Amino acid sequence: MSKVTVVGAGNVGATVANVLAHKDVVKEVVLLDIKGDMARGKALDSWQQAPVDYYSTALTGTEDYAETADSDIVVITAGVPRKPGMSRDDLISTNAKIVNSVTESIMKYSKNPIIIIVSNPLDVMTLAAYRASGLDKTRVFGMAGILDTARYRAFLATELNVSPKDIQAVLMGGHGDTMVPLPRYTTVSGIPVTEMIDMGKLDAIVNRTKKGGGELVQLMGTSAWYAPGAAAAQMVETIVRDEQRIFPCCALLQGEYGLDDLFLGVPVKLGKNGIEEVIELKLNDDEKELLNTSAEHVRQVIDVFNDMKL
Ligand code: NAI
Ligand code: 2OP
Repeated sequence: MSKVTVVGAGNVGATVANVLAHKDVVKEVVLLDIKGDMARGKALDSWQQAPVDYYSTALTGTEDYAETADSDIVVITAGVPRKPGMSRDDLISTNAKIVNSVTESIMKYSKNPIIIIVSNPLDVMTLAAYRASGLDKTRVFGMAGILDTARYRAFLATELNVSPKDIQAVLMGGHGDTMVPLPRYTTVSGIPVTEMIDMGKLDAIVNRTKKGGGELVQLMGTSAWYAPGAAAAQMVETIVRDEQRIFPCCALLQGEYGLDDLFLGVPVKLGKNGIEEVIELKLNDDEKELLNTSAEHVRQVIDVFNDMKL
């Protein structure tokens, strides 16, 4: 019987709300945007889909934070998406202020919500929300790894001509071109992927995955929303159902993987308390080096964020 707020009723936020409603696992979804009528319109449109697709989750739209009161889970998608030629990091000056003020407004009306960040640059926006919320580190985390592994799994499914359902994978690091897909932890129904594909093709897929967001920006002139929205909705479902599923998520590291005080993509167990456990894989030296390079990149963006002195 949970209440979920989705902040930002744009491409990703509206998709999160709509996909979540289809899962029929929460009582209500509040869609909040500075463009209140757009939020109201998209919520109403999704609610009018309920008799057709058979769900009971009630959807409402608003620009008023009072209507988000006592939310159990909040998904923050507010902010600008990138345009062709931009990196996710180019969004920081606009999105940091937005994520900061959205988080402060949310905390005025909800005491101890779980907050899932989607806005980019993801790893640093998750840090921003963590600092602004004052919540425990288990309750503030970011969505990126589910999306990035989904892209990796989809590319592998196409190449191998198998169902994407049967491809399992782990991917770590920041949500950017330094992300670290891990072929050693990729299987096709339990079969190591390296036994099913030649290394040249696998390397090409790893590289395409790293630039997967940019590929879509080039095609559409803005960033993706179906897979990102579905990925965030999956995180909400897992928490609401207390499923204890393992996903790559952006979590605060305090010593894990030899890294301190930064949010980065790692495998975690998700349940009703948010992050129930950060899982530490035994990475080999090459994998560790790639992860450290990605962490270093995220730290550079954190420096920019700190200089903003919000
Ligand atoms: P969009 O432009 O379609 O929607 C963003 C919405 O945020 C707009 O409706 C806008 O009115 C709203 N907004 C702006 N400032 C606000 C504020 N202060 N309070 C409430 N609402 C506010 O953008 P889209 O495509 O939905 O992307 C949203 C964000 O998610 C972007 O930063 C994008 O880069 C990021 N993203 C992250 C992904 C991930 O894997 N973590 C995947 C896809 C997008
Ligand atoms: C993506 O990966 C832009 O972060 C967004 O599609």
